[in-house]
Amino acid sequence: MKESNFILPEYPITLEAGKIEWKAPSNIALIKYWGKKGLQIPANPSLSFTLQKSLTSTSLSYSPIEKSENFSFEVFFDGKPNPDFKPKIEDFLSRVDPYLPFLKKFHFKIETTNTFPHSSGIASSASGFAALALCFAELERIMNTGIDPELFLKKASFMARLGSGSASRSIQGPLMLWGDHSMFEGSSDIYAVVYPFEVHPVFRSFHDTILLVDRGRKSVSSSMGHQLMVGHRYAGKRFDQASDNRTAMKAILKNGDLNRFVEIVESEALSLHAMMMTSIPYYLLMQPNTVAIIQKIWEFRLRTGLHLCFTLDAGANVHLLFPDDESVEVYNFIQEELLEHCDQGGLIKDRVGLGAVMVS
Ligand code: PMV
Repeated sequence: MKESNFILPEYPITLEAGKIEWKAPSNIALIKYWGKKGLQIPANPSLSFTLQKSLTSTSLSYSPIEKSENFSFEVFFDGKPNPDFKPKIEDFLSRVDPYLPFLKKFHFKIETTNTFPHSSGIASSASGFAALALCFAELERIMNTGIDPELFLKKASFMARLGSGSASRSIQGPLMLWGDHSMFEGSSDIYAVVYPFEVHPVFRSFHDTILLVDRGRKSVSSSMGHQLMVGHRYAGKRFDQASDNRTAMKAILKNGDLNRFVEIVESEALSLHAMMMTSIPYYLLMQPNTVAIIQKIWEFRLRTGLHLCFTLDAGANVHLLFPDDESVEVYNFIQEELLEHCDQGGLIKDRVGLGAVMVS
């Protein structure tokens, strides 16, 4: 499917004022997207678990106006006006404008809130742009009720991607693929799709407990990080590695081989951070507590033979991934040995989820 498929020929229904609300989850990449080409085209394919409880709720109130030159909108976060979000949303609107040609005929009030704490160091861009894209896709669907449900979801993912790449994977679940890959028919660089192959039941109830090591703002943003992959000495090898890892994951996800799963997931996380450490300028987002947690996880695995593993986003917080039938032992371990490394004992207990939902 091409970009042009996302342009609808007509909008038969004229709208009065109204309001739409969607809730979208965050996601955690197993195979990491790091590095892009052009406008949010991933340099390598990625694969993620959609989460269940870490959500952004966004409502879009719309009222028709005389067509204006600029976008007309206001943004509220947690009930208060938040002009800081405006530039990013303005950029998003200009990117989706060619696919939603009615945007300048409305005034919008965007109200957004997250279920996870504001100062947790958890990026809300994936869930945030997914929820926002779904609100706009819904607005379009009200004006053209005939839109095919598949096209609706693909377009929402496509638009979310234009806000933040990883947001493309926050529309559906439980496992999402983004990025063209010959082994995965139907995969695309311009939107994410539900992982189309057999998945062993163990992965359908996987846990992701997020240990909050650092709640601050990152010293280097993800956008800057992606940019530093341009001309990076190891970039080519890294893109090949991600591609090979995604191929290898196909068999692992089918047969439930948790030992191989652990190996690939942790290797992906460390490779992502290795790219940061070998960028020019180089930087480090892990903190001493991140490393302490990783070492304790390795000791725990040696001691118990269980399958707890970690992954990292572009930050210091640690995502603990583990199967449901090992959760009692893992929670005890977290309580006894890992909580001391979290900022004020902060953690979020999440699980694999099924994707975004509309709030009626
Ligand atoms: O979506 P962005 O531009 O914030 O990039 C996200 C990159 C990682 O979270 C580090 C990896 C990923 O695939 O989610």
